[in-house]
Amino acid sequence: MQVHCARCHSVARVGGSPLPMAPPFRTLHQRYPVENLQESLAEGIITGHPSMPEFQLDPGQVTDVITYLKTLER
Ligand code: HEC
Repeated sequence: MQVHCARCHSVARVGGSPLPMAPPFRTLHQRYPVENLQESLAEGIITGHPSMPEFQLDPGQVTDVITYLKTLER
């Protein structure tokens, strides 16, 4: 997921994203519970994501992403 996502989104605890438009992952939980992403990630579509390539993640990968995002909440 670092491979797929970190190209644009910051996965670090500080600093901006490589792509300024893309929200750093550690800020997502401030906007909504990251569990809400489970469904949209599984469907391969995230609303409001026009410049992001469409991903088809398998259920295991989706769980990994959510788990990872939760580790950033602290
Ligand atoms: C090519 C660049 C790019 C890649 C790669 C990318 N994203 Fe994004 N992502 C964006 C941009 C740009 C936005 C902001 C879109 C906007 O606000 O209009 C965004 C926004 C998001 C959002 C917030 C959506 C919202 O409405 O709040 C989530 C969640 C997200 N990305 C997840 C991911 C995940 C998970 C991956 C890897 C599987 C990923 N992104 C890979 C560019 C990218």
